Amino acid sequence: MFITTAIDYTNAPPHIGHAYEKVLADAIARYRRLKGEQVYFLTGVDQHGQKVQQAAEKEGIPPLAFAERISASFLALWEKLGVEPDGWAKTTDPRHALAVRKILQSLYEKGDLYKAAYAGFYSVRQEQFLTEKERGPDGEFGPEWGQVIEIEEENWYFRLSSYGEWLNRFVEARPDFVLPNFRRAELLNAIGKVSGDLCISRPKTRLAWGIELPFDPLYVTYVWFDALINYLSFAGYLAEPDAGLPDFSELWNPRALHVIGKDILSPPHGIYWPIMLHAIGFPDDRMPQLLVHGWWNLGGAKMSKTLGNVVDPSALADKYGAECLRYALLRDIATGHDADFSEDRLRQRYNADLANDLGNLLNRTLNMIQRYRSGVVVKSNGEGPLSGLAAQMAGTYRQRFDEFQVHSALEAIWSFISECNAFVEKSAPWKLAKDTARSAALDGVLYDLAESLRIIAVLVSPVLPKAARSMFDQLRVTEEPSLGNASWGGLPDAHAVGSPSPLFPRLDEDTPPLKASGR
Ligand code: MSP
Repeated sequence: MFITTAIDYTNAPPHIGHAYEKVLADAIARYRRLKGEQVYFLTGVDQHGQKVQQAAEKEGIPPLAFAERISASFLALWEKLGVEPDGWAKTTDPRHALAVRKILQSLYEKGDLYKAAYAGFYSVRQEQFLTEKERGPDGEFGPEWGQVIEIEEENWYFRLSSYGEWLNRFVEARPDFVLPNFRRAELLNAIGKVSGDLCISRPKTRLAWGIELPFDPLYVTYVWFDALINYLSFAGYLAEPDAGLPDFSELWNPRALHVIGKDILSPPHGIYWPIMLHAIGFPDDRMPQLLVHGWWNLGGAKMSKTLGNVVDPSALADKYGAECLRYALLRDIATGHDADFSEDRLRQRYNADLANDLGNLLNRTLNMIQRYRSGVVVKSNGEGPLSGLAAQMAGTYRQRFDEFQVHSALEAIWSFISECNAFVEKSAPWKLAKDTARSAALDGVLYDLAESLRIIAVLVSPVLPKAARSMFDQLRVTEEPSLGNASWGGLPDAHAVGSPSPLFPRLDEDTPPLKASGR
């Protein structure tokens, strides 16, 4: 399976919204590997375009130097958060420029591109010409467009409108082109409103920071046309054999999964992209699938640099640990919908879910096995009450993860963890240990708890890879985790576990919350 995320603009450092998307895609990639699938996970940075050029100008440095510095802060964050892509897409990579230029040239030769003059209103912030449709009820262009100027210029256009009918038919026929379903309905609505062609060039006099058109050196490629092609170029499409890129025919087989935010569904990924693919000859069954996530907001408002309310994910990871941030970002948002971020909530998740529920279960279980049985568990013939619950939980988990509802998959694990903790209280091993007549019952309880923890470790591993690793180490389980070995009975008879060490140490409650800051 080929999984990609949006490539992040390099005009400003990452915030938790960017982190969420990458952690989501990373968890999906890890889950698919757990299922035994071959996975190639691609993420990267969008280095061209007006936003980057302007940010660099403000600092008085060349756009490449600026973009590289910001790109490094994204890379460092992914490393810190355990986001482990197989490929790194950066749009200034010459291998990418090669693919973009080959695609442009073939569209040009096919007659899908034409040059025309256009006069109109232009949004500097959104880097697009505005039409009457973009005017608000008061007849003005809203603040979301930023500075709006009137310009006239000649540009190159892509014959988008001639493919509108095809796109409509395609999206109607492919119910799973966009997930979740309500986002597909939004897209169908937007497709109905498509009119006109797509301007795919910018004159170098206005914007020099981009990939030069192969057939007209006075222009560079529009940043979206350039950026979308990363999903092909870094997948090895039209690449030289020795380019060090994957084999395209294996990767897009049958299709790619693009994990993107709701703001870039329509028009870029839902309209431009399938039409571009169709125009360059992709058959319908090779069209990608779009998984559209919602946004993390702050205090009900959109996070933005200008509002000064961005939260630095790197500082949160330093304070609470990367695994806690991964967990919080995936636990408190339903894929497709928005949620409000709060550090208090994250802290609660740390204390309640990670330190208390999961951390304690591991700790007390290993402690009891050490104390009462010198670290060795005995596998009995009968199955205790946790085995049925574990099977049920693993089934729900799988179904929810397959639907990309990661929060719900985690919910299933944590309700099982609660059952395990309740089971400890109810079966009271400390009482059983005092009664030699109940020795077999004690063995049964300890085995069931250790085995439950082994299964929990397998299933949390896509979201909490480091904690899962530590759980396996403490349980002395050496098998490579897979969904296949998440079924009951994997711990052999007479298995010796290790000694406990805290998975999520208690937080120092006096540490003040981080301040949101504009950077
Ligand atoms: N460069 C384009 C994408 C090109 S893809 C061929 C872009 N970059 S971005 O940096 O603005 O956004 C990158 C991703 O982060 C997008 O999918 C966007 O939806 C996501 N998010 C940006 N802010 C977000 C939140 N506050 N919450 C969740 N995701 C957010 O768009």
